[in-house]
Amino acid sequence: MTRYKPLVLPLMLILLHTQLIIVPSSSAATYANHTGALPPAVVPCLPDQASALLRLKRSFSITKNSSSTFRSWKAGTDCCHWEGIHCRNGDGRVTSLDLGGRRLESGGLDPAIFHLTSLNHLNLACNSFNGSQLPQTGFERLTMLTYLNLSSSDFVGQVPTASISRLTNLVSLDLSTRFEVEEFTQGHAVLSFDSVESSVQRANFETLIANHKKLRELYLGAVDLSDNGMTWCDALSSSTPNLRVLSLPNCGLSGPICGSFSAMHSLAVIDLRFNDLSGPIPNFATFSSLRVLQLGHNFLQGQVSPLIFQHKKLVTVDLYNNLELSGSLPNFSVASNLENIFVSETSFYGEIPSSIGNLKYLKNLGVGASQFSGELPSSIGWLKSLNSLEISGTTIVGTIPSWITNLTSLTILQFSRCGLTGSIPSFLGKLPQHISNFTNLSTLFLNSNNLVVNSSSTHIPKLQILALSGCNITKFPDFLRSQDELLWLDLSKNQIHGAIPSWAWESWNDSGVASLILAHNKFTSVGSNPFIPLQIDWLDLSNNMFEGTIPIPQGSARLLDYSNNMFSSIPFNFTAHLSHVTLFNAPGNNFSGEIPPSFCTATELQYLDLSNNNFSGSIPSCLIENVNGIQILNLNANQLDGEIPDTIKEGCSFHALYFSGNRIEG
Ligand SMILES: *[C@@H]1O[C@H](CO)[C@@H](O)[C@H](O)[C@H]1NC(C)=O
Ligand SMILES: *[C@@H]1O[C@H](CO)[C@@H](O)[C@H](O)[C@H]1NC(C)=O
Ligand SMILES: *[C@@H]1O[C@H](CO)[C@@H](O)[C@H](O)[C@H]1NC(C)=O
Ligand SMILES: *[C@@H]1O[C@H](CO)[C@@H](O)[C@H](O)[C@H]1NC(C)=O
Ligand SMILES: *[C@@H]1O[C@H](CO)[C@@H](O)[C@H](O)[C@H]1NC(C)=O
Ligand SMILES: *[C@@H]1O[C@H](CO)[C@@H](O)[C@H](O)[C@H]1NC(C)=O
Ligand SMILES: *[C@@H]1O[C@H](CO)[C@@H](O)[C@H](O)[C@H]1NC(C)=O
Ligand SMILES: *[C@@H]1O[C@H](CO)[C@@H](O)[C@H](O)[C@H]1NC(C)=O
Ligand SMILES: *[C@@H]1O[C@H](CO)[C@@H](O)[C@H](O)[C@H]1NC(C)=O
Ligand SMILES: *[C@@H]1O[C@H](CO)[C@@H](O)[C@H](O)[C@H]1NC(C)=O
Ligand SMILES: *[C@@H]1O[C@H](CO)[C@@H](O)[C@H](O)[C@H]1NC(C)=O
Ligand SMILES: *[C@@H]1O[C@H](CO)[C@@H](O)[C@H](O)[C@H]1NC(C)=O
Repeated sequence: MTRYKPLVLPLMLILLHTQLIIVPSSSAATYANHTGALPPAVVPCLPDQASALLRLKRSFSITKNSSSTFRSWKAGTDCCHWEGIHCRNGDGRVTSLDLGGRRLESGGLDPAIFHLTSLNHLNLACNSFNGSQLPQTGFERLTMLTYLNLSSSDFVGQVPTASISRLTNLVSLDLSTRFEVEEFTQGHAVLSFDSVESSVQRANFETLIANHKKLRELYLGAVDLSDNGMTWCDALSSSTPNLRVLSLPNCGLSGPICGSFSAMHSLAVIDLRFNDLSGPIPNFATFSSLRVLQLGHNFLQGQVSPLIFQHKKLVTVDLYNNLELSGSLPNFSVASNLENIFVSETSFYGEIPSSIGNLKYLKNLGVGASQFSGELPSSIGWLKSLNSLEISGTTIVGTIPSWITNLTSLTILQFSRCGLTGSIPSFLGKLPQHISNFTNLSTLFLNSNNLVVNSSSTHIPKLQILALSGCNITKFPDFLRSQDELLWLDLSKNQIHGAIPSWAWESWNDSGVASLILAHNKFTSVGSNPFIPLQIDWLDLSNNMFEGTIPIPQGSARLLDYSNNMFSSIPFNFTAHLSHVTLFNAPGNNFSGEIPPSFCTATELQYLDLSNNNFSGSIPSCLIENVNGIQILNLNANQLDGEIPDTIKEGCSFHALYFSGNRIEG
């Protein structure tokens, strides 16, 4: 399951570095230099160009940012000298308009821009067009365009493919929505988009690229291409043979990577992460220019040639989370340029060669695949610039390897299923003890080891992400008292019993634990008033023995999972806390009485499962009329009665509606 985290992106700092030199358009004499000679005549901005630009300016809202961007855009001055404008041909026509990253706001792209028919460079990226659609016609007039960048600009709906496909001089096309990825164990990843989350653009890929023989860079990240079936791949190799950058992450691509893809030998960057690709992968070792290969989070299968890891130019190999992709790691050469290797959550197997110590530029090493075997080579201790290290399968046995003292840049450390034993927090305590300057460690995964909690008072670094799932822990760890910066805590699949200590809720209330996963334990009590004073995003209490009233975070929870416990009531007045809930999962409890109509006020609710309880009475009419647009409603196996009108069932907007195992008619 995906965890949705509130969008927190570093602000882009824009420095207005262009120095403005305003030259009175009438006096060519001011161009004269010391030798007295005149430069070639330069025609100032033509009136139609200036008026198109001024109309464009008026289409942006007046904000602090637009005021500073457009300060120089004044009627009666030479537009060729305005901020973001260039007229390279000296004929008074605008050839370049670059307003990228100014954080401007507009209700939509003004068609006035299509009067600038001499444009060869157009960048409107990283502004907000407020969820509007791109004009379907107009781009075809900009026939000189070689560079078009509309990335992360909050456009939605259909990309004007027919119109853009006529720009046959394009060398670089960027319609992507940029996103940041935060990866967790077992293939969990969160994508934080650089725009309004709902902004989805769709495109017919074949039409879009059909005429772009000159294209060298194509960025369509997060544009929905899923309607193109498997045709995307052959379309690429036949239309854009000279592509150097292919960036199509999170585009809904499916099918295998086609045979003709192997002909695209100029590719230096391939990013196809977060799609539904299946089948075997081409032998990328033969792509002689390749620097970046990112295929993570797909369903690819088969054997990967070990030669790819010996490719001299390659910097990044990301095969993360392709469960059926397998291969082994070869001996690594000192001549390698590899900085990033991600083969976690795959079927890679065999030993981790000790020649891994030769990879002197390595920053991220993800070899968390359970079929790796043998002992972890101590040469990892030579990799001084490692920022993240993710290991599983490979045996560590017992103690922390001493080479870890060398890895002072680590921020993420994962030892899952490594046969680690011992007690926490002593274990954790040893980390900062070993690595006294290990101040940046913020993420620690120790899933599926065999750890014992005792209350030694070792000093522990303040972590943001801590996963101790499946570690054979029987007692709620005391050391968490001092962990007041946690954002993600996973204690699932242990044998922790009793109540969640009340200090837990208190110590975390300011830090904003965004995700708390306590599933599959033996907890019996929540240890808090039903309204938890936390801003939790994902609360998972499923598969425990909790009793009483379900707890509801007071903040803006999105995912609430209470399934398979013995909860018996829902707080009387919980409406106010459901405003962002998308999933409310509570099957297999002891709820009785009527289903609270409050669920109807949860406007973002998509999934509601109250099956296998003892709810009685009729289904609240607002629920079956589906006033809030729920997609899946499961009320199976309760004591409900009443009837469901036929009209509701026919015109139903539910994706799925279940109510069997009740006394409902209809
Ligand atoms: C002055 O103009 C001449 C002729 O266009 C050019 O060669 C020279 O580099 C210019 N000198 C300066 C200082 O701009
Ligand atoms: C598009 O513009 C944005 C913001 O200026 C920039 O970050 C991005 O790299 C550009 N894309 C291309 C392909 O140049
Ligand atoms: C101006 O731009 C900055 C980032 O450069 C952004 O954080 C801020 O919200 C923008 N202000 C307005 C009013 O849009
Ligand atoms: C953006 O869209 C919202 C809702 O559709 C609207 O209320 C707002 O005025 C729009 N802002 C601009 C700058 O057009
Ligand atoms: C790697 O090198 C070791 C010795 O350095 C050698 O025994 C082994 O066969 C090599 N493995 C491969 C796959 O080349
Ligand atoms: C730490 O790195 C140095 C090389 O920089 C190496 O000689 C030493 O063996 C490493 N220490 C451990 C414990 O691996
Ligand atoms: C910790 O991170 C900061 C900022 O990224 C960096 O300047 C510092 O060198 C890091 N410390 C270590 C021990 O790597
Ligand atoms: C670690 O930091 C301490 C100061 O906190 C410093 O005295 C010591 O030299 C550092 N050790 C290393 C190995 O960088
Ligand atoms: C958990 O601990 C018990 C008793 O200490 C032990 O018998 C069992 O093997 C452990 N389970 C795992 C998966 O390590
Ligand atoms: C906790 O465990 C460590 C290591 O097993 C042990 O040295 C220490 O004495 C234990 N502390 C307590 C309070 O049991
Ligand atoms: C956090 O808990 C403490 C102690 O219960 C309380 O004093 C404080 O007001 C709480 N802070 C918030 C933001 O709820
Ligand atoms: C309960 O509902 C009342 C109105 O019926 C409201 O004023 C109050 O704030 C609600 N309390 C909580 C905790 O939501």
